[in-house]
Amino acid sequence: MSVNLKLKRIIDDSYSIIIKKGLLKSLPSGLKKMFPKKTAIILTDSNVDKLYGRAFYDAMKGCGITAEYRVFKAGEKSKTRKTKQKIEDSLLKKAIGRDSYLIALGGGVTGDMGGFIASTYLRGIPYIQIPTSLLAQVDSSVGGKTAVDTPFGKNMIGTFYQPRVVFIDPKVLKTLSDEEYYSGMGEILKHAIMFKKSLADELIKKTDLVINRNLKEMEKIININCAIKAGIVEKDEKENELRKLLNFGHTAAHAIESASKYKVKHGIAVLHGMCIEASIAFKAGLIKGTVMKMIFELIENYLPEKYLFTNFNAEALIKFMKFDKKNRDGRINFVFPEKMGKPMSITSGSKKGRKYSMVIDDKYIKSGIEYFLKRKKN
Ligand code: GLY
Repeated sequence: MSVNLKLKRIIDDSYSIIIKKGLLKSLPSGLKKMFPKKTAIILTDSNVDKLYGRAFYDAMKGCGITAEYRVFKAGEKSKTRKTKQKIEDSLLKKAIGRDSYLIALGGGVTGDMGGFIASTYLRGIPYIQIPTSLLAQVDSSVGGKTAVDTPFGKNMIGTFYQPRVVFIDPKVLKTLSDEEYYSGMGEILKHAIMFKKSLADELIKKTDLVINRNLKEMEKIININCAIKAGIVEKDEKENELRKLLNFGHTAAHAIESASKYKVKHGIAVLHGMCIEASIAFKAGLIKGTVMKMIFELIENYLPEKYLFTNFNAEALIKFMKFDKKNRDGRINFVFPEKMGKPMSITSGSKKGRKYSMVIDDKYIKSGIEYFLKRKKN
């Protein structure tokens, strides 16, 4: 005997990413129209609480919105199952029901954990991303990856769960620390190197404006980056293959983060990681020296000396790379650009079936890392 349960789904998870200077101020009245009867759960961290969170909560209440406000201690260390549970229990205690939606107001930690809470709370409630760090604005708030960290690694437990809408106010970049700002640049440069040469050219031409956080420029740059990321996620939401291209620089970056005991911020580790992986591609004969040089030159504009981390050797970094969750059987996987603005694929044919991820022999990884260290230490 058998029972067949037919559950073919047609899902429309489409959403908009709205980017506008000063948008944060006018948002509460817009949200009142969007969710007239729902309770808003505002999640933020202790830094954003002081800068924007409390004022946002007050403005929401001022608009007549029923709102709950939850603040957790800022930092990656809070992105745990424990913090998630604490927040969930506090909502359950107040009997916050399914007639609610969550607002993740903050950087990557808030967005990842907020999205995860929304995806599991009462089996799922809608959520909105309001990213306040550059990294979250150009990368983590878009694409629906949600997660918490575990002792076994970062982002090990999570879901794919898309937000209803992403609201980005470039004005909030003015209060970011330099370190956070350069960290966001890591993901912007990654998008340029892998997908858009014209963006790489702009980033070289306008380095001063970008570094000085010119808001008109940044609004355009954020828009371009969100469009790049959205284009990838639309084609491969669950990271079967194409989305893996967003991991350029990340195999080495995760190892750098581990080697530094997480003192190096993620995006800054990505800046290092892209140089190292470009060197590995060069040593393995996959890219020309001129391409590697262009990548180094672009990144060097956005990696100040004070953030440079070279306190590791090749063997140690390879060990950390082998721990990466994307590497099975101790084989280290990479994706590379073929040239500036174009990813390297290892199969030809239609874009749909193309493969991008490749295993590289340890000897090239070692000489790539050594090349990077030699260049940076001279
Ligand atoms: N940050 C990479 C991704 O969202 O796939």
